Amino acid sequence: MPAYLDPSIDDKEYLTGVSFASGGSGYDPQTPKIVAVFSFVDQLKQFKEYIQKLKDLVGEERTQYILANSLFIVVAGSDDLANTYFTIGIRRLQYDVATYADLLVSSASNFIKDIYELGARKIGVFGAPPIGCLPSQRTLDGGGLRLCVEEYNQAAQLYNKKLQPEIEYLNSTLARSRIVFIDIYNPLLAIIENPLQYGLEVVDRGCCGTGNVEVAVLCNKLVPTCLDDSKYLFWDSYHPTNKGYNILINQVLGKYIGDFF
Ligand SMILES: *[C@@H]1O[C@H](CO)[C@@H](O)[C@H](O)[C@H]1NC(C)=O
Repeated sequence: MPAYLDPSIDDKEYLTGVSFASGGSGYDPQTPKIVAVFSFVDQLKQFKEYIQKLKDLVGEERTQYILANSLFIVVAGSDDLANTYFTIGIRRLQYDVATYADLLVSSASNFIKDIYELGARKIGVFGAPPIGCLPSQRTLDGGGLRLCVEEYNQAAQLYNKKLQPEIEYLNSTLARSRIVFIDIYNPLLAIIENPLQYGLEVVDRGCCGTGNVEVAVLCNKLVPTCLDDSKYLFWDSYHPTNKGYNILINQVLGKYIGDFF
């Protein structure tokens, strides 16, 4: 799926879907500020521009049809919790975990209502993964053995426990919607606890560099990598490999796709 902002994008691509995702963003307005990426407010503005482009291309009626029948996937929360709350810690001074989770859920809920108002009907909302088991978080707070950080995992679970009923509430109150909470906490933890069952060997560090700290742009051509990334769950210290995403997304699709129809 091409990026909405890709300058070489073809008009035809607008009809089959684009991505508004901005790496490192989140529901907390502080999160995109810390890493200088697009906020959800920015992404909403881009979505409105996109809708106008669709209308110019195919007219009002077809635009509504495309919006109502497209699958919207909203993936956020990891950077809010792992980065803004725990690692940088600015929010930790103001909120306990439960209150911060409430703030994220309320922001997620408002965002979903906003895109619903603009015509979205089928919306999949990802919960938080076990952020305490991300290689970077093991390094930062997992002690000498780099264990999963229980406190971080519990925060992710608490957030999920608050998000899921809110999603179910929106699904039941917004007419003709199919709004689905997608659990990735349990499937990802199952892979981490039982990698061989999924054909993986290394789940506690990334393939790139030392695997313990390098992330995103710090993984580049100058940094050595593991020999076979298909044996690794994580590409860098934060993001899964293609293989990792493949395993996850196949499970998720199988489990939830029926809920959108
Ligand atoms: C969403 O609501 C519809 C009714 O509008 C219901 O049939 C469906 O089971 C709900 N989906 C989920 C995932 O709760």
